[in-house]
Amino acid sequence: MATLADRIYRVSDLNKRQSEHLRTLCFSWQVLADLSFSDLLLYVRVMGQELFEISAQLRPFTSQTLYPQDMVGVRVTQPEQPVVERAFREGRVWRQDDPVLVDGIPIRMDAVPVRFNNGVVAVVTKEGSPATSRRPGRLEQVYLQCAERVSQMICDGTFPYEDIPASHEWPRVSDGLFVLDEAGLIAWASPNALSSIHRLGVRQNVLGRYLDELGLGVTPVGEALDTKKMLDGELVRGDSHIRLRVMPLIERNEIRGSLVLARDVSELRQKERMISVKDATIREIHHRVKNNLQTIASLLRLQGRRVSSDEARLVLQESVMRVGSIALVHETLSEQPQDVAEFGDVASRICRMVTEGLVSPDAQIEIKMSGRTGPLGADLATPLAVSVTELIQNSIEHAFPETRSGTIGVELGRDEAGIVVTVWDDGVGLGEDSAKSTRLGLQIVRSLIGELGGSFSQSANGGTRSEIRIPIEG
Ligand SMILES: Nc1ncnc2c1ncn2[C@@H]1O[C@H](COP(=O)(O)OP(=O)(O)O)[C@@H](O)[C@H]1O
Ligand SMILES: [Mg+2]
Repeated sequence: MATLADRIYRVSDLNKRQSEHLRTLCFSWQVLADLSFSDLLLYVRVMGQELFEISAQLRPFTSQTLYPQDMVGVRVTQPEQPVVERAFREGRVWRQDDPVLVDGIPIRMDAVPVRFNNGVVAVVTKEGSPATSRRPGRLEQVYLQCAERVSQMICDGTFPYEDIPASHEWPRVSDGLFVLDEAGLIAWASPNALSSIHRLGVRQNVLGRYLDELGLGVTPVGEALDTKKMLDGELVRGDSHIRLRVMPLIERNEIRGSLVLARDVSELRQKERMISVKDATIREIHHRVKNNLQTIASLLRLQGRRVSSDEARLVLQESVMRVGSIALVHETLSEQPQDVAEFGDVASRICRMVTEGLVSPDAQIEIKMSGRTGPLGADLATPLAVSVTELIQNSIEHAFPETRSGTIGVELGRDEAGIVVTVWDDGVGLGEDSAKSTRLGLQIVRSLIGELGGSFSQSANGGTRSEIRIPIEG
């Protein structure tokens, strides 16, 4: 899907940077819709024509929308929207003082030219109905005054701000709003803003004071006023957190005050803390499972040294590898921030373990590993680890009976269908009866892969090539 900036770039004669400015505007303009209780429409001029196209639309959270229908893509001519054309041509905010009746509803429309680098690039209209907006009180008056100032900044080219903090989404005006004067003193606070600092234990009257004086830590207000940048901060007491977004209000290049959007994020922070505790617990469990499995492997190894029959020793050695490969999955997962790990990390540990355990020092066997599967959980990684261990083990044990030298490859991949793991060697190739073999190794692989709904196939072609495919969605 084309992005907003791409669409604007195609439709209008604006360049990339101008289109990008409009995209940033549309990332930031909810605050204007909410402060003005208005629907916002963004008009750009269609390339080479006396027409404007609506490129973006936004509804207010603070009021009922006048446009339940989608307006994006609608084109209008100058006679249909004279104020849009005038604002665009004259480069100043065009206010319609008397509401006009549309379908019997009085509607007031302002047209705000959007300036970028000294040129007007588009027009934003604010349309609200005094009849549908709430009973005008002090809050409505303050919101509307703030909206006027933000509109003027759009017209001056100082809104949207440059270098918007990318990490957070925009808090809403209705979450809480402080209006500060040019010195940074609190001139007005919305009921929600007052409630949230109340919850942080601030009881005294805050009007006429600095946000920094409330004993809740230092805010970025001072820096925002100095640098004229929009900055984010946080008020904290105990487990309570209020996220702040400080928007300096700039008029003729001077600071005229600022708006501070305040959102109580205590619940969010608590959830984040719980998730990180949970992640740490899961890591710890993986670590303990790994330790237990390694203990089992050591016990089997000890036992292997004591038996006299070669067959029994071999069987125990194979079991050590199987248990060891599962331990490696848990070891890898215990080092990850989440409950998933790249299987390539597990596979390279398996290669090391098998080489150390099985390849005698005088043999020259090289194991090559390539590719990645993407992150996998223990449910997939464990059976895959056991299977890959069996296959590498087979290559070492059966592929090079005479020469004791050769190459083994482990290739990992992922496509739309799922995961593909290939283990190949350049040895003697499979014997005729390996498919019918009643021995345990390949049977384990077949049944583990079968349980995952995957497929396992082997071919002998100047060596042996075994392929495992496991379907996964997404
Ligand atoms: N990479 C390989 N090269 C040659 N022969 C193989 C290879 N992999 C498996 N085979 C043959 O298939 C048989 C079955 O393998 P498997 O089920 O793992 O049992 P085991 O390894 O215990 O013999 C092996 O005995 C061997 O003859
Ligand atoms: Mg085997």
